[in-house]
Amino acid sequence: MRTLAIARTDGYLEPCGCGGQQAGGLARRAQLLRDWRAEAADLVALDLGNFGSQPAAVPVVARALGAMGVLACGTAAEDLADYPTFTTACREAGLAHTSLVPPLESGAAPPAAIVVSGPGGPVCGLLSLCFGSLANAALTARAVDELERLHAAQPALPVLLISHRNVATTERLVAAIPGALRPVAVLAASDSNEPAPAWERDGLWWVPVAQRGRALVRLRLVRAAAGWEVRATAVLVADGPRDVAVQAMVDDYHRSTAPPPVASTPAPYPPVTACVPCHSGAVKAWRQQPHAHAVETLEQAGRLQAGCLRCHDERFRRDGQRSPAGDRGIECATCHDALADHLANTQRRPSSGARAACEGCHTAENSPHWDHPTYLTKILAACRAR
Ligand code: HEC
Ligand code: HEC
Ligand code: HEC
Ligand code: HEC
Repeated sequence: MRTLAIARTDGYLEPCGCGGQQAGGLARRAQLLRDWRAEAADLVALDLGNFGSQPAAVPVVARALGAMGVLACGTAAEDLADYPTFTTACREAGLAHTSLVPPLESGAAPPAAIVVSGPGGPVCGLLSLCFGSLANAALTARAVDELERLHAAQPALPVLLISHRNVATTERLVAAIPGALRPVAVLAASDSNEPAPAWERDGLWWVPVAQRGRALVRLRLVRAAAGWEVRATAVLVADGPRDVAVQAMVDDYHRSTAPPPVASTPAPYPPVTACVPCHSGAVKAWRQQPHAHAVETLEQAGRLQAGCLRCHDERFRRDGQRSPAGDRGIECATCHDALADHLANTQRRPSSGARAACEGCHTAENSPHWDHPTYLTKILAACRAR
């Protein structure tokens, strides 16, 4: 029997905490893996790769996966786009990786199919199909070559195919693989954040692996008369405890990324103070509101980063700088347009953001309890205050 734990990180270090959303993250996954290892000492961990769109985060993701004992990952397009950093980061973290995509400009050879070995010897073969410049026919031919090579070296080894392509394309590709070389399961990179059940078709198991490291799949390969029997369960990496060492790596990464500069020039839009003479009640009420404290929220969380500021700081949204202390956050100008005209002549009324404008920030992920009428009522209570 072989026991594997599989996730797909997707460059996801930790949950942001917006709207109380706390599921997942590297540190929680590390702790969960530790618990699983206490039950199954032979557990081998894999990752479906996709280390995210932030090149600076690639090394910390690789280091964290290395620290949690992840042995191998299957690369996706995003990883290969950052090929030199990614390869170096994996090497330093002791992570093997596999992909069937030609190298980019780097000129390096693409990582091919690999044998994943645990403490007790070889566990499985691994091959990753990724988006890339290869046409399907060429990709299939390469996959068959790699599987033949694996089979010749390790005939009894179960092979897992990671696919970053969609199910229909992968099905066509798998259909072209000769019977003796067929994988026992396809680990299908899924765009969903939620765990989903595996399914069987024509003797092949399809195991969806949710993105952003939010789900951990436990895969058991049991020897059966005709090859390997596959059992998969997927669980959400929820609000559990965090591994202290991995959390420290994430915190160090955040400390090492310099926050954007604090602006020394006036805001390129009318500031809140300009409204005080005629809307003092609204301004006073706004200052009591969460919108007026959205930057402090990030300061308290120690996360003054571009990725967070883009929804928490109006000044940053406009010109990439942080607001100095004072009135800042989601300001009057975030929701009210044509304010300069209004200040020049109060007969000219400013407009107010429609529902869609709220939902640019209040997304399903960042505001899971969003309900437009309820939230709007709170805003109007402030704007109508005398
Ligand atoms: C897509 C826009 C968006 C991004 C990006 C974003 N936030 Fe938020 N954040 C929100 C919204 C909207 C809320 C309010 C959610 C609610 O109450 O429904 C929020 C609320 C929060 C809260 C909760 C405040 C409280 O005390 O209730 C924290 C903490 C937070 N965000 C931190 C972060 C961090 C850290 C990041 C970056 C890693 C981040 N946010 C990125 C939109 C965003
Ligand atoms: C010199 C006084 C004055 C200043 C300064 C001023 N306003 Fe007004 N504002 C008015 C008046 C007068 C009205 C119309 C009030 C009414 O009809 O009850 C108005 C109406 C509004 C309305 C409602 C528009 C509508 O269609 O009903 C908004 C929104 C508004 N102001 C936003 C702002 C903001 C934001 C600022 C600061 C950038 C600001 N105002 C600064 C005088 C001012
Ligand atoms: C530029 C991004 C942005 C826009 C646009 C935005 N919000 Fe928010 N909103 C936030 C953030 C960030 C928070 C959390 C602030 C904090 O607690 O630090 C928040 C918090 C809130 C809260 C407080 C929730 C609570 O727990 O009490 C309400 C209500 C709200 N928003 C309503 C709205 C409405 C209604 C609109 C549209 C008219 C809107 N927001 C537009 C980013 C935005
Ligand atoms: C999160 C978005 C948001 C922010 C921030 C915001 N407003 Fe509003 N405001 C609205 C919306 C939405 C309306 C309702 C417009 C409507 O009824 O069509 C409104 C209405 C108003 C009105 C008209 C109130 C009435 O009597 O009907 C005034 C005045 C106003 N806002 C002033 C302000 C001022 C001043 C600030 C900053 C201190 C501010 N608003 C910040 C979204 C916002």
